[in-house]
Amino acid sequence: MGSRFACQASAAFGLEGLVAEELRSLNMADVLSENGDVRFSADAEELFRCNLFLRYCDRVFVVMADQKCVTFDELFRLVNSIPWEDYVSGNEAFNISAKCARSRLMSPRDCQSIAKKALLERLKEKTKLRIFPENGPSFPVLVSVHSDRVRILLNTSGDALSRRGYRTWNGEAPLRETLAAALVRLSPWKPGMPLYDPCCGTGTILTEAALIASHRCPGISRHFAMEQFHFCRSLDFTFLRKTAEESFCPDLISDISGSDIDPGPLKLALRHVHQAGLDGRISLSVLPLQEVSLSSENGVFICNPPYGERLSDQAASRTLYRDLHALKSRHPSWSLCAISSDPGFERAFGLRADKKRRLYNGRLECTYYIYYGTRKPVSC
Ligand SMILES: C[S@@+](CC[C@H](N)C(=O)[O-])C[C@H]1O[C@@H](n2cnc3c(N)ncnc32)[C@H](O)[C@@H]1O
Repeated sequence: MGSRFACQASAAFGLEGLVAEELRSLNMADVLSENGDVRFSADAEELFRCNLFLRYCDRVFVVMADQKCVTFDELFRLVNSIPWEDYVSGNEAFNISAKCARSRLMSPRDCQSIAKKALLERLKEKTKLRIFPENGPSFPVLVSVHSDRVRILLNTSGDALSRRGYRTWNGEAPLRETLAAALVRLSPWKPGMPLYDPCCGTGTILTEAALIASHRCPGISRHFAMEQFHFCRSLDFTFLRKTAEESFCPDLISDISGSDIDPGPLKLALRHVHQAGLDGRISLSVLPLQEVSLSSENGVFICNPPYGERLSDQAASRTLYRDLHALKSRHPSWSLCAISSDPGFERAFGLRADKKRRLYNGRLECTYYIYYGTRKPVSC
C-alpha cells in the first residue's frame, strides 16, 4: 500500500449521509461527516476507486493542509509549508481557486493569488527551476476558507462527479445526476420493482435508476484529474477501470419507464440512455401525466415536476401537483416521490406527505415529498 492521505468528499447539502454510507461500503477508513463534508483516509488507488464509484458525491479532495489563518501572511506560510515538490513534475498548470465564507480572509481573488505565489516560491526554492511553463496537465487546488479555518485541497476529480459523461445535451431544468441518484436511493424503490417518472424530461432519474439496478459504476465513462497527477503515475488506471466494469449487468434492469408531455427533452433522454450504454432498457413515451395509467402494482413514481419559480408559472405547476395526486390515487399500491421548491406543494397536492427531506437542487432549497402506497400482495 502507498502513502495514505487525509481526504475529503464534498456533497450537496443533505447528501453527506449518503456519501458517508458509500465510503464505508467501499471500505474507506476513518469516515466522519463534518459540516457538510465527509472526511476519510485513503491511498491513491482507493482515491481512484472513490472517484469511480461514489454516486452522490460532488468531488474528492486530498487535504494538503488544514489550519486556522486570519491574515494573508499566515495563508502564505501555510501554502508554502506544503511539500508540493513531492507531488508535481514541474510542468503542471496550477489551477488555483478559492472560496471564502464567514472569515476574516474574505477575498477569494486575493487568497487565490497569494496561494499561487506561495506554491510557486516553494517549488522554485526546492527544485531550483526558475520557470514553470504551466503547459502540462491540470493540477487543480482549492483554497477553502470557512470560519477562519483554511483548508488547502487538491481536487482529484477535476470536473464535478455529477458529470458522468452520458449527458452531453441539457434540457431546460435538468437535475444533476448526483441528486437524481439520491432521489432514487431515498425513495422506497428497490431494483426489480417498477419505477416510473411521469415528467421525465431528459430522463436523468430513470437513467440513474437503471445504472443503480445494473451495478454500473457511475464514473466509468469519464476521466478524473488524478489520472494526470505525477505522484499517481504508477497506478494502472486501465486495469482498475476494467475491474470496475465487470460488475455491470444490464439484464438486471426491469420495468424502468417514464413519459413527458414535451417531445423535445424526450429526444435528449433517448440520446442520454444510448450514451449511458442502456439502449432498449428504459421505455419512454410522449404522454401528459394526466393520462398515465399502468397495469403493474407496487411500483414507485419518482419525479421532478416544474417548481413554478416565476409567479406567472405557479398556478400551472400547482395544478400539476393536484394531477400528481390524482395519478397516485389511480395507482393506490404505488408510492409517489416528488421534489419541489414550492412551499405550497402539499397544499396543492391535497395531502400531507408521509415523509419529507430537505435537499438542494443547485442553490434552490427544496423538499423531497414521499407518499407511500398500500402494497398489494403479488401472486407468484
Ligand atoms: C423540471 S423538468 C424535469 C427535468 C428532468 N428531471 C430532467 O432531468 O431532465 C419538468 C418536466 O415536466 C414536464 N411536464 C410539464 N407538464 C407536464 C404534464 N402535464 N405531463 C407530463 N410532463 C409534464 C416538462 O415538459 C418538463 O420536462
